[in-house]
Amino acid sequence: MSLFTVILAAGLGTRMKSDTPKVLHTINGKAIIRHVVDAVRALKPNKIVVVVSPGSHSIQDALNDDGITFAIQREPKGTADALRAAAQKLAGKTGTVLVLSGDTPLVNSSTLQRLITTHKRKKEALSILSFTVEGDHAYGRIVRNGQQVAAIIEAGDADHQQQQIKEVNSGIYVMESTALKLLRKIPINPLKGEYYLTDIVGIAVRKGFRVGSHILGDETELTGINTRRDLCMAGLYLRDRIVSKWFEKGVSFVDAKTVFIDPDVEIGRDTIIYPNVIIEGKSAIGKGCVIYPNTRIIDSTVGNGVTIKDSTVIESSIIKDAASVGPFAHLRPYSAIGVSAKIGNFVEIKKSVIGNGSKASHLSYLGDAEIGGNVNIGAGTITCNYDGVNKSKTVIEDGCFIGSDTQLVAPVKVGKGAYVGAGSTITKDVPPFALAVSRTPQRNFDGWAAGRARKKNRNSSKG
Ligand code: UD1
Ligand code: CA
Repeated sequence: MSLFTVILAAGLGTRMKSDTPKVLHTINGKAIIRHVVDAVRALKPNKIVVVVSPGSHSIQDALNDDGITFAIQREPKGTADALRAAAQKLAGKTGTVLVLSGDTPLVNSSTLQRLITTHKRKKEALSILSFTVEGDHAYGRIVRNGQQVAAIIEAGDADHQQQQIKEVNSGIYVMESTALKLLRKIPINPLKGEYYLTDIVGIAVRKGFRVGSHILGDETELTGINTRRDLCMAGLYLRDRIVSKWFEKGVSFVDAKTVFIDPDVEIGRDTIIYPNVIIEGKSAIGKGCVIYPNTRIIDSTVGNGVTIKDSTVIESSIIKDAASVGPFAHLRPYSAIGVSAKIGNFVEIKKSVIGNGSKASHLSYLGDAEIGGNVNIGAGTITCNYDGVNKSKTVIEDGCFIGSDTQLVAPVKVGKGAYVGAGSTITKDVPPFALAVSRTPQRNFDGWAAGRARKKNRNSSKG
């Protein structure tokens, strides 16, 4: 049996007070609508239709994967009108249609699956995914006549008694394609001037369709994002959910309320994560790592047994097993740190390979560099990789020792096992096993300072 899914995302989202379409705001680094699409994809539907407004190219660009069909809702005339736009893309098709709001990002695919299973088991034409809420809220109320669902009444239309109803509409429905024809019967809502999809429920019941409402999720999962506050709360819920998953898999968090781990991140067991750590995008952290506070890791791969010390930023880089990075280090994109290598205090690395066992412990900039194994980079060493026009490469072969405060003016190569004396400016290649020193020779002027001190004393006694 075919399964089609429709995601409604053509609303104005005015309550966000934003120039960005509501469904493109991000939660844990992922656009709201992308969370919904990912949940839906897990069900392997035959078709995904996303309803967007005209000129919403940014949404279409954000979802540029294959297999999404976009339906255009010409004007934001309500959720029923939006589904009507999608129905045109399903014309002539029969099967089950899962309808979701593009602004309900935390829904689990397992909950959607349970709704579909319940829908089929009960042979319903229309099934509503509902949940219960306490206190004030603006969700549509599920009105029942005894056990049987009678209608959904929107908050603005609810009378005092209906206001008290705790079972509410998540905006997620499963319906048989045969029920789509009822969309034409929905009248305009006089209060808002919109066509409410929720009105399909009362109409279907009156026409004798089997309709059910099923409490299968809770408020945390089914919360709809309408405001910036909702967005923030959803991010916090998602954080707790992700942290719980990693607790289950053997990851420790010192303060789970202060970390943010994106949904697609992987973390190995026995890794310990300190407060204020943010791990984003497609990052993967190995087993037995320690990540100290205030660190941000973006789209990077970290091996096993790696230590990342405080206040370090790692972007699109690779850190191999047992390496140590930080404190206050910055790995800029396309850096690779070798096994057991050490990148220390205030070191910036850009598009460079650092070999196994090599060390750059203090205050260095290494850019466009290829550094072999067991190299020692002294404090304050700088690769001068940019001449204002071109970027050039520095190569330092295995086992070299680069003295402190060296400038390597690229393109330049230091051959295997060579030494560079501290304070050198290296402009020419250094042969293997050589010592290169480039400093003006030191001159000492005997007694110079003593004479100066005497002169100073004489001047001050003159007053
Ligand atoms: C809707 C439901 C409400 C439910 C709540 C759950 C209606 C009338 N009300 O209210 O019962 O409790 O969701 O979160 O359906 N959209 C369009 N075109 C439009 C209008 C909206 O595509 O013309 C899309 C929006 O982009 C959004 C979704 O439909 O993704 C829901 O619209 P929204 O305005 O947020 O509805 P709610 O007021 O939250
Ligand atoms: Ca909403």
